Amino acid sequence: MIQPVILCGGSGTRLWPLSREQMPKQFLRLTSSKSLLQQTLDRLEGISTTPPFIMGHQAHRFLMAEQLREANQAGRIVLEPEGRNTAPAIACAALLAKAAGDDPLLLVLPADHVIGDVSAFQQSVEWAVPLAEQGYLVTFGVVPTHPETGYGYIACGDVLKRGYQLTSFIEKPDAERAAQLLEKGDTLWNSGMFLLRASTYLEQLADLQPEMLSACQAAVDGAHSDLDFLRLAEAPFQRCPSNSIDYAVMEHCRFAAVIPFDAQWSDVGSFDALWEMAAADEAGNVVQGDALLHSTTNSLVMAEHRLVTTLGVNDLIVIETSDSVLVAHRDQAQQIKQLVAVLASKG
Ligand code: GDD
Ligand code: MG
Repeated sequence: MIQPVILCGGSGTRLWPLSREQMPKQFLRLTSSKSLLQQTLDRLEGISTTPPFIMGHQAHRFLMAEQLREANQAGRIVLEPEGRNTAPAIACAALLAKAAGDDPLLLVLPADHVIGDVSAFQQSVEWAVPLAEQGYLVTFGVVPTHPETGYGYIACGDVLKRGYQLTSFIEKPDAERAAQLLEKGDTLWNSGMFLLRASTYLEQLADLQPEMLSACQAAVDGAHSDLDFLRLAEAPFQRCPSNSIDYAVMEHCRFAAVIPFDAQWSDVGSFDALWEMAAADEAGNVVQGDALLHSTTNSLVMAEHRLVTTLGVNDLIVIETSDSVLVAHRDQAQQIKQLVAVLASKG
């Protein structure tokens, strides 16, 4: 049986002022009337799974519960007292499954991605199942288009049925290394989804991250129910080292595989990505909300509360919310997190 594990505890900053500490990207309704979390849950319909674990930050508990209720989706919401990145979140999900007497295949899914072709996604998961059953940590690899430094890179080796043996995993290389990897070929981007057997992942952690594993074990042993939520024990989870599955496990793992993943995937990492995904009008503009664009091309304008007008401008991102307005050149879309860091330092 497949046990979905939805990673819902991140705090994306590149979509500020839409995404905030209290309202990270996964809860936003960016591309449809459903939030990215709700779309992630809907995508599971058609795959035979147990109700998912939704692993998130305690500060977002009511948002998670409300969005599940609204989408009429079942799921066990597990609360982390503080963010410790993805490796501990997945470990706690694996330990919870084990505590229930199961050893399922965990389908680990980020809650903040867009996938245009849902049947291709489901097909890829199906192809991954026999490999995960053999004990491979299975990744889903996207054909790279540019030397992106925000992704993991997977080097493909021998053919394994529908996929490849993974020969190396390089998380977030610098620009020079990313360009080299692209040039070498046989390299895919890590989509951030995984299929792995719970016990296999825990064995890897016992070997590579024993301190993390024992902290997660104590956090799960001491977990308690609060309303419909399951709260991980605070003290042990706070002592847990913080690391992502990519750095903590995938970079060191020798028994891993990759399934090519061609499903119109995007991690909506920037406003530019949002612009590229949407259907632009003849002038190349993407508009949401109440806006009037005149002599304007290749721009993204989102108006939440007020009328926004533009005149004689090109390649702009204009995001209007109730308390802030962002005006940026499209070329600078990746720099917004720096802007947010400056704002945070000013309190
Ligand atoms: N529960 C929980 N707890 N979830 C978390 C935490 C946490 O502490 N931190 C992050 N997440 C969630 C995020 O909400 C997101 O859905 C997912 O885990 C991945 O975290 P990101 O912080 O978005 O990772 P990334 O984008 O920098 O890198 C990952 O994704 C790339 C593709 O988008 C890596 O897996 C890369 O290798 C990959 O290329
Ligand atoms: Mg991400």
